Amino acid sequence: MRTSVTLAVLAWLSASEALVLHERQDGAPRVVSMDIERTKLSNPLQRDRLRRRGSVQATLDNEETLYFLNATIGTPAQGIRLHVDTGSSDLWVNTPSSKLCLLRSAPCQFAGTYAANSSSTYEYVGSYFNISYVDGSGASGDYVSDTVSIGGQKLDRLQFGVGYSSTSAQGILGIGYEINEVQVGRAGKPAYRNLPSQMVADGLIQSASYSLWLNDLGANRGSILFGGVDSGKYEGELQTLPIQSQSGIYAEFLITLTGLKLGTQAIANSTALAVLLDSGSSLTYLPDTMVQDIYSAVGAQFDADEGAAYVPCSLADDSRNLTFSFSEPAIAVEMNELVLDLITAGGKRPTFQNGATACLFGIAPAGTGTNVLGDTFLRSAYVVYDLENNEISLAQTRFNSSSSSVKEITAAEIPGATAVTNSVTATSGLVGARAVGISAVGSGMVVVVAFAAGLVLLMV
Ligand SMILES: *[C@@H]1O[C@H](CO)[C@@H](O)[C@H](O)[C@H]1NC(C)=O
Ligand SMILES: *[C@@H]1O[C@H](CO)[C@@H](O)[C@H](O)[C@H]1NC(C)=O
Ligand SMILES: *[C@@H]1O[C@H](CO)[C@@H](O)[C@H](O)[C@H]1NC(C)=O
Ligand SMILES: *[C@@H]1O[C@H](CO)[C@@H](O)[C@H](O)[C@H]1NC(C)=O
Ligand SMILES: *[C@@H]1O[C@H](CO)[C@@H](O)[C@H](O)[C@H]1NC(C)=O
Ligand SMILES: *[C@@H]1O[C@H](CO)[C@@H](O)[C@H](O)[C@H]1NC(C)=O
Repeated sequence: MRTSVTLAVLAWLSASEALVLHERQDGAPRVVSMDIERTKLSNPLQRDRLRRRGSVQATLDNEETLYFLNATIGTPAQGIRLHVDTGSSDLWVNTPSSKLCLLRSAPCQFAGTYAANSSSTYEYVGSYFNISYVDGSGASGDYVSDTVSIGGQKLDRLQFGVGYSSTSAQGILGIGYEINEVQVGRAGKPAYRNLPSQMVADGLIQSASYSLWLNDLGANRGSILFGGVDSGKYEGELQTLPIQSQSGIYAEFLITLTGLKLGTQAIANSTALAVLLDSGSSLTYLPDTMVQDIYSAVGAQFDADEGAAYVPCSLADDSRNLTFSFSEPAIAVEMNELVLDLITAGGKRPTFQNGATACLFGIAPAGTGTNVLGDTFLRSAYVVYDLENNEISLAQTRFNSSSSSVKEITAAEIPGATAVTNSVTATSGLVGARAVGISAVGSGMVVVVAFAAGLVLLMV
């Protein structure tokens, strides 16, 4: 989900509080770990249209690759797949009796549904769950609470939404800041404990934090580790940067991008651009001028109707990296991570008029919207999201690593991470979010959240 919004600078922890590695003496680290799985959703109709035209055009909504994890809800347990989203903050699921799920095509079958009625541990919370999206779609219904199991650990009582009315076939696991819950923004109620926070309250983990390792585009599996860091999954050292707040509010995972390079060519120097880390966004969205420079350097063809660009698939063999600099570190994204396959219903690939096979390019213009580092960037990074200290720790990922060395994150400390000194504060790219947080889900879905003042709105 493209999300947007806010940031701030956290004063660095004093030396005594600095990031330090703690190993538990009493056995295994207290962490909750689980695999996540990448699934490609495709729309045959769109693909066919594309093939017939002989030129490249596809609808991104249907080209998304989403990361899911398996969970169970209720008693007895009902299995469900949840789309992992760092860009929103509510967990919500579909119910089998919604109009959407009852369609002949059974769209909810892949991700599964939750029938509150069939669970002996279900409790009603209120009928004010309502998430909406930029295209007018969304989900609404009840907030409820029930037993939720995830990664082999059980939470006896976790609040989440049930989409009695829904236009999204997948339930979503939003793991962002609580202030971005729609209960806060829409219903004007106090925040409830969402998953990371409930895990802390239940003693499953020590700190509201998690590490996300999406792994390679060529791999189908990555992992999420709540309350811990796995040093087997990244290269070098983790560097810790402050999340950027707006008007003192931490609502979104925004950090400062300080430079961008394609091979040795500078695309942007000395920027102080706020960018959102959003696992729910398949593509990366950057300022139009930067994107234009990248497109000319790689020969991408922009399709204004789709808001995205196509490249010959052979670009994947280009040896240049697209390197994103933060105060520290720099994360290199290899070209083959930016060239996404488009496969038609018949298993064919679209081609350009000259016959070259066409692929979707992983970077798109943000326009007036938020700048988002989505999955095409995130796969190349190991990212620790620390909600408790308002910090992000980053390192270059280690693709396909089977080595593992898990350490627990304690309340103020991320094992093996070094705080970046003199990190740059974002001066552009911040949405005027004084009172508003915007969080978009999936392509074009936007959750609207207003803080305090009652307002709200709109779209990315
Ligand atoms: C989730 O469960 C489905 C069905 O059992 C299985 O095919 C899939 O591999 C599981 N995914 C993960 C990430 O564990
Ligand atoms: C609960 O079950 C009853 C009877 O099966 C059904 O009529 C009702 O709509 C269900 N309620 C919900 C909230 O699903
Ligand atoms: C949810 O919010 C949208 C936008 O504010 C509104 O149009 C819609 O009626 C609401 N849905 C419900 C069920 O309250
Ligand atoms: C990772 O594994 C996948 C699947 O086996 C493979 O396609 C891909 O090339 C590997 N990536 C790297 C960087 O080795
Ligand atoms: C970035 O800096 C380099 C070296 O100082 C300069 O050659 C280049 O033109 C600059 N590029 C941009 C996009 O500002
Ligand atoms: C691109 O980045 C990868 C990952 O950091 C690195 O191994 C490789 O050497 C880089 N390639 C070039 C041409 O710089």
